Amino acid sequence: MTTPKHLPTRKLGKTTLEVTTLGVGCAWLGRRADGSTDEETGQAAILAALDSGVRLIDTASLYVDGTAERVVGQALRERPALADKVVVETKVRDVRDFGYSADETRRSVETSLQRLGLSHIPLVFIHDPPAGIFERVMGPGGALTMLRQLQSEGVVGHIGIASNNPWDNTPYIESGEFEAAVVPDAYSLLSQVAVERIFPAAERFGMGIVVATPLERGLLATGVAALRPEDHINRQFTPEVLRHVAELEALCQRHGVSLLAAALQFVVHHPAVSTTVPGARRPEQAVANTAAMLEPIPDGFWHDLEPMLATYNINLPPEPTPQH
Ligand SMILES: NC(=O)c1ccc[n+]([C@@H]2O[C@H](COP(=O)([O-])OP(=O)(O)OC[C@H]3O[C@@H](n4cnc5c(N)ncnc54)[C@H](OP(=O)(O)O)[C@@H]3O)[C@@H](O)[C@H]2O)c1
Repeated sequence: MTTPKHLPTRKLGKTTLEVTTLGVGCAWLGRRADGSTDEETGQAAILAALDSGVRLIDTASLYVDGTAERVVGQALRERPALADKVVVETKVRDVRDFGYSADETRRSVETSLQRLGLSHIPLVFIHDPPAGIFERVMGPGGALTMLRQLQSEGVVGHIGIASNNPWDNTPYIESGEFEAAVVPDAYSLLSQVAVERIFPAAERFGMGIVVATPLERGLLATGVAALRPEDHINRQFTPEVLRHVAELEALCQRHGVSLLAAALQFVVHHPAVSTTVPGARRPEQAVANTAAMLEPIPDGFWHDLEPMLATYNINLPPEPTPQH
């Protein structure tokens, strides 16, 4: 097997965008364990990702209390030669109490443009709408209508959906109205939920899929031995999950593969998936993630992994029961 020297690129579904198979996620950019933020470290993480070859940045108006977009903008200005090569995706919902109306959506996009220092955002997602307000989001006077308007004004390139769990995300994805989706908490070495409805719908409509949370908040980067919950963000796992991860680590060891490489390459192995955006709090994490995406993995590993694929409910609310 030959190892690529650079991150491969793929077309993001039916959009005109080419993205590296690895992006960088900004939800915890520069966040310290005590909840405060170190913007310098956050910017260094983005620069490290870009310098290692990453050409996709996943951010959102809400991330790190609004600082993530500003930090991304600063990093982009540090690398002007990459300006037209990096795909920046952000998300509309600039305040927690967001009503997904057209007016709020325009305000949110304008805030993002200003913070990022851009006049055009290649890809904008509607962030975290619950399934229960589908009509409001998708109907006249809602977020989708405004994003289409901003698209016709040349401010927004492509429009996607990015709800925070598969139960909320799926109806939007299955509407066929979006060109791309961010899919969190639904596909990793510990979750196969997206295989049931999300990936088939995405393939039916030619949508680009960006898998989020591929590392299950870092558990699949460090493995269980290095687990020190107090050093990390959102790291609480059941003994059952930890036992399974230990078994995955043993499999990786038998094949001479790092768990991090297995976790990142697994998600982009699926034909419906274009790319994945692990979060990097610090620059060394971004560098390690690129190295892991380029690590050679023998075919025998994927074969032996197959029977170990399972779904654990790690971070999900209960699945709603169907209404008849
Ligand atoms: N609704 C949505 O659109 C949505 C929802 C969720 C996520 N996302 C996007 O997806 C991205 C990824 O999700 P996530 O950041 O929550 O989870 P994740 O990618 O599964 O895990 C990221 C965490 O793993 C740890 N980590 C990353 N690389 C590492 C490395 N090389 N070595 C050791 N530890 C490493 C870091 O945590 P510690 O340093 O704390 O250990 C990091 O914060 C987000 O940043 C965001 O851009 C989008």
